[in-house]
Amino acid sequence: MKKITIAIDGYSSTGKSTIAKQLAKALGYIYIDTGAMYRAVTLFAIRNGFIGGAQDNPQALVKLLPKLNLKFVYNEALEFSEMYLNNENVEDEIRTLAVSSKVSEIAAIEQVRYKLVDIQKQMGKEKGVVMDGRDIGTVVLPDAELKLFMTASSEKRATRRYKELIDKGEKVTFAEVLKNVEHRDYLDTHREFSPLKMAENAIEFDNSDMGLKEQFERIYNYAIRVIEK
Ligand code: DC
Repeated sequence: MKKITIAIDGYSSTGKSTIAKQLAKALGYIYIDTGAMYRAVTLFAIRNGFIGGAQDNPQALVKLLPKLNLKFVYNEALEFSEMYLNNENVEDEIRTLAVSSKVSEIAAIEQVRYKLVDIQKQMGKEKGVVMDGRDIGTVVLPDAELKLFMTASSEKRATRRYKELIDKGEKVTFAEVLKNVEHRDYLDTHREFSPLKMAENAIEFDNSDMGLKEQFERIYNYAIRVIEK
């Protein structure tokens, strides 16, 4: 069967990674979560006091960027690749609200995007990849054969994220999560360098009122149609 490249963009907490993982599994493709890379850089910045401390110092982060090692290591038991920052598995730590509330600021730094987009382009060179993020269809993989743009209401998205965080034992309120979702939407769509926007040839997919099964079936069919074309 012919292999294609699939780019999935959209707002935060629209279930991009869920559908991306399902598609990768069903098609035997590699899944790349670019948000995890921005989160890992953010964790590094927080740990070193470059952001969120008494004095933010993004320029100090920029200086250290060449030394940052980011890689994905496939976890066979979990059936997906986990994020490693300088050889440490940071998969859990990068999903906390502390990282989520700072990641859009880090993702807006030109040099950070430059470094990560470069790595992502390399990873997406071979066909048979599903990559999700905010600028995949527009900047990272503009030639992707299938581009999806995921949306859902901010309340629905905050409800999903709130449940995930509570299940993980984080102490957060729904209001905090909703505020974070809306704030990230604003920052992601208003930043100067590759802001979140729908690629011209993307399919917009609103899953506010759709179950996972129906969503998967519909999107899988789009993929098969493109593959068989
Ligand atoms: O998909 P996510 O919520 O894990 O992404 C975390 C943040 O990283 C998100 O707020 C925006 C940023 N991001 C980005 O700017 N570009 C990408 N390709 C992926 C994520």
